[in-house]
Amino acid sequence: MEEMMQFLRTRRTYRRFEQRPVDHAIAAEILEAARIASCGANRQTLKYVLVESPAMVAKMQPLVHWAAYLPPEQGCPAPDETPVLFIAVCQDESLPGANDTDAGLALGSMTAAAWAHGVGSCIMGAIDRPAIQSLLGLGDCLRLHSVVAFGYPTHTSRVVPMEDGSVKYFLDEDRNYCVPKRPMEEVLLKTL
Ligand SMILES: Cc1cc2nc3c(=O)[nH]c(=O)nc-3n(C[C@H](O)[C@H](O)[C@H](O)COP(=O)(O)O)c2cc1C
Repeated sequence: MEEMMQFLRTRRTYRRFEQRPVDHAIAAEILEAARIASCGANRQTLKYVLVESPAMVAKMQPLVHWAAYLPPEQGCPAPDETPVLFIAVCQDESLPGANDTDAGLALGSMTAAAWAHGVGSCIMGAIDRPAIQSLLGLGDCLRLHSVVAFGYPTHTSRVVPMEDGSVKYFLDEDRNYCVPKRPMEEVLLKTL
């Protein structure tokens, strides 16, 4: 159990990466984790696009936006720190029952499956949807929900106590991420 909690503590958002590829077998496992995720009424409305060729990964880079709480020179990966893999998460609107909870569960499973291999990730909602939709050739029935960036991180990220109620993550002196989380006394409303 302690191992699981350590896994969950360190399965954070990562935004700077080594420039070495993530094996296709690991990408396939990440997608398998998404495929079998729980979903409302088992309707399975989510579809995925795996972007792993260096040329396509490079075309995705300018279409995603990093770390809104940080100045770009701190939050945006430099050209030699960019992710090496993207997965686009789409809702197939030709199927009934698409919902954000299902997408969240799939995203959680994907990022956990990646982290089990030491692959860090960043779930990205601030994305240029029309441009990505067109780049990936997504048809009208596919609504781009989010994109996940992956790679082997070159920094650490740790949960820190929240100070002054600020939710803003920040970098420490070694450029590692510090992510404030609300204390348990605040989030656990009652124990009955
Ligand atoms: C739905 C969602 C959308 C997000 N969109 C972005 C994004 O566009 N760009 C980014 O750099 N991080 C994005 N993030 C990462 C969050 O900023 C990050 O999860 C948050 O700061 C907490 O950090 P943690 O994941 O390490 O707990 C997103 C996360 C989620 C869950």
